[in-house]
Amino acid sequence: MTENDFLPNVYQEFPLSGKVTWRAPSNIALVKYWGKKPVQIPANPSISFTLDTCATTTSVTFTKKEGDADFSFDLLFEGKPKEEFKPKILTFFERIVSYLPFLKAYHFDIDTSNSFPHSSGIASSASGMAALSLCLMDIEKQLDPTMDRTTFNRKASYLARLGSGSACRSIHGSLVEWGIHENIPQSSDLYGTEYPFAIDSVFKTYQDTILLVHKGEKQVSSTVGHQLMKGHPYAENRFQQAVQNLDSLKPILASGDLEGFIQLVESEALTLHAMMMTSMPYFILMKPDTLEIINKIWKYRQESKVPVCFTLDAGANVHMLYPENVKENVQRFIDDELAMHCENGQYIHDRVGKGAVKIND
Ligand code: DP6
Repeated sequence: MTENDFLPNVYQEFPLSGKVTWRAPSNIALVKYWGKKPVQIPANPSISFTLDTCATTTSVTFTKKEGDADFSFDLLFEGKPKEEFKPKILTFFERIVSYLPFLKAYHFDIDTSNSFPHSSGIASSASGMAALSLCLMDIEKQLDPTMDRTTFNRKASYLARLGSGSACRSIHGSLVEWGIHENIPQSSDLYGTEYPFAIDSVFKTYQDTILLVHKGEKQVSSTVGHQLMKGHPYAENRFQQAVQNLDSLKPILASGDLEGFIQLVESEALTLHAMMMTSMPYFILMKPDTLEIINKIWKYRQESKVPVCFTLDAGANVHMLYPENVKENVQRFIDDELAMHCENGQYIHDRVGKGAVKIND
């Protein structure tokens, strides 16, 4: 498929007004996307677990307006007007208007909220852009009722990607791959697709506890971090490594090889942060407590043989990944040794989820 396949059909009808609501989950990458080409094309393929509890719910009310010269929208975040978010939405609308030309025909009231605490340091761009894209696709479906489900989901992922790369992996569950990989059929740089190979049952109920180490603003945004991969001395090797890691993951996922999983996932997390530390300018997003937690996880795993590992996104928080059957052990470990490293002792239990859902008002 090419970009042109996402241009719309001729719309059949324009409803005067309506309201749609979608809930889209966050995701946590196992093989990381870090580095991109214009516009939002990943430098390497990536794969993530779709989460369940951490999600954004967005309602879009649309009202037909006079004239179609400009975009018109208002935004509520957690029930309050949020002017700071408007430029990001405007840029997003400008980027996607050729694929959704109805955007200028309506006024939109966007009402969005997250299930996770405000400013928890959890990136809401993935779930937020996915939920908004699904709402906009739902409106397009009303204008073009012939659209099938595959086209709907694919285009929702395509649009979400244009808002934030990792958002394209937040439409489907439970493992989503994004980026062309020669050994993964249907893989695309343009949208995320459900992982097509066998997955052992242990991974279908995998747990992710997010330890909230640092809830403040990051010093360097992901967008800037991606740019710093341009001309990075290790970039080409890193991109190749991600491709190889996706190959290595296939037998690990199929057989439920937890040792192999742990090794690959932790190496990916540390490589991501190594890329940040070796960028120019260089930066560090981990905090002392991030390292304390990592060392404690290693010690605990060695002593208890409980197969818990960590991964990191572009921040200081630690995602602990582990099978459901060791949940109680891990909970005790968190209470006894890890909660003390979290801001206000806070953490969030999440697990692998099934993807975005429409909410009927
Ligand atoms: C470290 O998707 O947030 O979480 O495309 O600029 O919006 P933009 O970046 P974003 O980058 C996510 C980076 C990551 C790894 C990953 O999720 O694969």
